[in-house]
Amino acid sequence: MAEERSPFRFLAASARGLEPSATLAINELINDLWDQGREVFHLGFGESRFPVHPKIAEALRAQVHQQSYLPAQGLRHVREAIAAFYQDRFRVPAHPDRIIVGPGSKPLIYALMLALDGDLLLTTPSWVSYQPHALLAHKASHRVPGVPENNYELAPAQLSDTITRVRMNGGDPGILMLNSPSNPTGRVLDAQTLEAVGAICRQENIGILSDEIYGLINHGSVPHASASQFYPEGTVVLGGISKHLSLGGWRFGVAVLPNTEAGGRLLKELRVLGGEIWSATTAPVQYAAQLAYSDDPEINAYIDECAAIHAIRTHYLWTHIIAMGIRCPRPEGGFYLFPDFEWWREPLQKLGVTTSAQLSLFLLEKFQIATLPGSAFGSPPTQLSLRLSSSYLDMESREKAQAILDAYRVDPDPKAFMSDHHPATNRASQQLGRVIEYFEMQSN
Ligand SMILES: Cc1ncc(COP(=O)(O)O)c(C=O)c1O
Repeated sequence: MAEERSPFRFLAASARGLEPSATLAINELINDLWDQGREVFHLGFGESRFPVHPKIAEALRAQVHQQSYLPAQGLRHVREAIAAFYQDRFRVPAHPDRIIVGPGSKPLIYALMLALDGDLLLTTPSWVSYQPHALLAHKASHRVPGVPENNYELAPAQLSDTITRVRMNGGDPGILMLNSPSNPTGRVLDAQTLEAVGAICRQENIGILSDEIYGLINHGSVPHASASQFYPEGTVVLGGISKHLSLGGWRFGVAVLPNTEAGGRLLKELRVLGGEIWSATTAPVQYAAQLAYSDDPEINAYIDECAAIHAIRTHYLWTHIIAMGIRCPRPEGGFYLFPDFEWWREPLQKLGVTTSAQLSLFLLEKFQIATLPGSAFGSPPTQLSLRLSSSYLDMESREKAQAILDAYRVDPDPKAFMSDHHPATNRASQQLGRVIEYFEMQSN
């Protein structure tokens, strides 16, 4: 049999060198404000905060005696459940022998960057950790430009141009990182774009890492699709239970590799790296996670219910933002918004604000609104974009999160749900209105 062409080239593991987090100053200021007893309109904290589903909580309790190290790849019956789940819910061609679980998808992404050779291509903006992962893996990274006028959408032609430009400059693109739904923009990549992107990567012999961790938090306007449907031999799909089941702290992630010889080789690399770095995924969590992938009707319904609430809360904020004249891509999944304040560049300049990092600090200092700067997501520093998250307000404590869920179950009508049960979100959106009034005053 002829040897199959591999989209992956392999690099030995390494780890070193990283810049400190761009969001540190903001976190310190938030803590200062809290210490002073001030209200912070916290739109900076992105974490799904719904309660642990009772059945999953019970499954963890029942497995607490599991004390042994497990295989680095993960328990076979858990991988079988994951494979079936990915095939049914995502139409991802998944095989239990080509699945590896890890303590969150984040270390799996990093391990993939250690295992795969070639430079990293990143969309703009993109999640904060991809570039540091590349840095740690001594990997060059290059940005495919994304512009607010086009909702930061990935244009296949831009991807081709970027590959050509990188090669002309002596670079060696080997991996494309995709993230849909996107943190930070909330946009979903449609099937047509993914098909075109898959064709380019196949042609150029570039592997895709497809971060689909928000895939089950879809707002209903653009169905979730995966690059692996169009480029199965060259796509690794990443996911986990941190977002749609609000279990980030449990640290359970998944990588679905191609069911090919190259996928098998990649699996071996990941087993070695995982085995040497984290040994195995926490045993009781792994046993309990099986339930999360077992197509249990109650759990599926819970996932959909939480996704619907995220959609309502995120769209509520978006609607208010748009009504204030702020440009912002319409969210299609997840719980993030990525507005930009270009319209107020002049008044902001008068206030000494010319970068997104300064804008983020300004809003926190003067209006107690916490956000993250677009530059933390790789946007050009002077682009006045911010990432907002709808996930924290009115769900600050476990009790409040439960109350939001209960209220939705009593009356899911978005209007009443938002007006009667979201005092902090409403105050935050009024405060954003004051910001815009202030900017307008400065322009006159
Ligand atoms: C886009 C994206 N990918 C991956 C992760 C990592 O998730 P985990 O390591 O909990 O699986 C996050 C978490 O914030 C994220 O936003």
